[in-house]
Amino acid sequence: INCSIHPSISSFSMDAAVERLKTGFEKFKTEVYDKKPDFFEPLKAGQAPKYMVFACADSRVCPSVTLGLEPGEAFTIRNIANMVPSYCKNKYAGVGSAIEYAVCALKVEVIVVIGHSRCGGIKALLSLKDGADDSFHFVEDWVRIGFPAKKKVQTECASMPFDDQCTVLEKEAVNVSLQNLLTYPFVKEGVSNGTLKLVGGHYDFVSGKFETWEQ
Ligand SMILES: *[C@@H]1O[C@H](CO)[C@@H](O)[C@H](O)[C@H]1NC(C)=O
Ligand SMILES: *[C@@H]1O[C@H](CO)[C@@H](O)[C@H](O)[C@H]1NC(C)=O
Ligand SMILES: [Zn+2]
Repeated sequence: INCSIHPSISSFSMDAAVERLKTGFEKFKTEVYDKKPDFFEPLKAGQAPKYMVFACADSRVCPSVTLGLEPGEAFTIRNIANMVPSYCKNKYAGVGSAIEYAVCALKVEVIVVIGHSRCGGIKALLSLKDGADDSFHFVEDWVRIGFPAKKKVQTECASMPFDDQCTVLEKEAVNVSLQNLLTYPFVKEGVSNGTLKLVGGHYDFVSGKFETWEQ
């Protein structure tokens, strides 16, 4: 993988790229922010989200858009293939600190992990050859969090075409993430004392469907 900058970035110049962000904000400011002071005023003082959401970094699956989650409703982590690694202080402090803050400080009531159709990270996980060298610095090692799900799918769905295995893996990897959440002591405690619920989800943008399940 060659990460050097491509010489001609395309007609979407840097000026236009920044301009697009500014006009996007202006639209939000006039059409939403300025119109709903009663909604935005209390949010200046603090947040009390009921949800923590894990979603993929994929540009097509923003949960605020697809689930209509408003500012203040969802404490959100987006990463490649919406993975939750198991508790590890050294390696995954970014995820761990967000879960800890969501559960212990914000006291969210639901953690939902949402997979999606045609996920490139899940495809990468299923394509990894045992023992082969990684071609990215980070990507393969990250998606390997879902390795137990991959083994399960390869065993139980061996006769399925690759794309169908990917679809099953998109959901099975969510289940592994839900299991991994329980390795955080504060999550486990919240689940056992009934103050915290763990939910799996899958957004299919090909057929336009959203499903959820409880672990
Ligand atoms: C994930 O977990 C749910 C709930 O336990 C289960 O119904 C489902 O079969 C599991 N696997 C997949 C691929 O959804
Ligand atoms: C349940 O667990 C949460 C999270 O650890 C904690 O904040 C809360 O005080 C606990 N509630 C009870 C009734 O034990
Ligand atoms: Zn994805």
